[in-house]
Amino acid sequence: MTPNHDIHWQQTDIDRHARSLIKLQTSCVLWFTGLSGAGKSTIANLVEKRLHAMGRHTYLLDGDNIRHGLNRDLGFSNADRSENIRRVAEVSRLMMDAGLIVLASFISPFSAERRIARDMVGTNEFVEIFIQTPLSVAEQRDPKGLYKKARDGNFRNFTGIDSPYEIPESPEISIDTTSCMPHESCERIVNYLLSIGIMQ
Ligand code: ADX
Repeated sequence: MTPNHDIHWQQTDIDRHARSLIKLQTSCVLWFTGLSGAGKSTIANLVEKRLHAMGRHTYLLDGDNIRHGLNRDLGFSNADRSENIRRVAEVSRLMMDAGLIVLASFISPFSAERRIARDMVGTNEFVEIFIQTPLSVAEQRDPKGLYKKARDGNFRNFTGIDSPYEIPESPEISIDTTSCMPHESCERIVNYLLSIGIMQ
């Protein structure tokens, strides 16, 4: 849809900086990408618990949950996945503007959509975290039984089977879950945030 030129941006006096400052933090978006079953939700959940324990104000947006509500009208065609990520990137940006540390956990298989999300949020505030798990390992884990269904032909457009996953080229963090346990992955992410000054 093209933007409506009769609608003008309304400036507000309280901005992202003020909203973050009162929470004693710098807001940002931690974007977890990877195959289904890679471990995104597990690690994002651990990171959120850790940040919460540190007194940070967070919100976790998770693919499966968002698809129960806001994005319940979307399926898994390329066009629907793009729209899924566009909406989630918008929501992430709004929540970041509200002063929160946002954790977004979505397969987000296409580089172009991840780039759109990064541009929308702002590259300094966007931390792309590639949860790197080989397809064979994710398929072996198969926590929801979806890979089996896809292999049995009961499912179309399943990421890694008959729908592509484009590997991130330069994520801020890349985690190999075959050698890094979830709690170590969580430590790495929190240490990274401390090292770049997003968190003090
Ligand atoms: S994305 O590709 O549009 O980013 P998203 O992260 O929202 O995907 O949703 C992925 C979740 O939906 C998976 O964890 C899985 O449980 C479920 N799912 C159902 N059908 C599919 C499918 N065809 N491909 C991938 N995941 C699917």
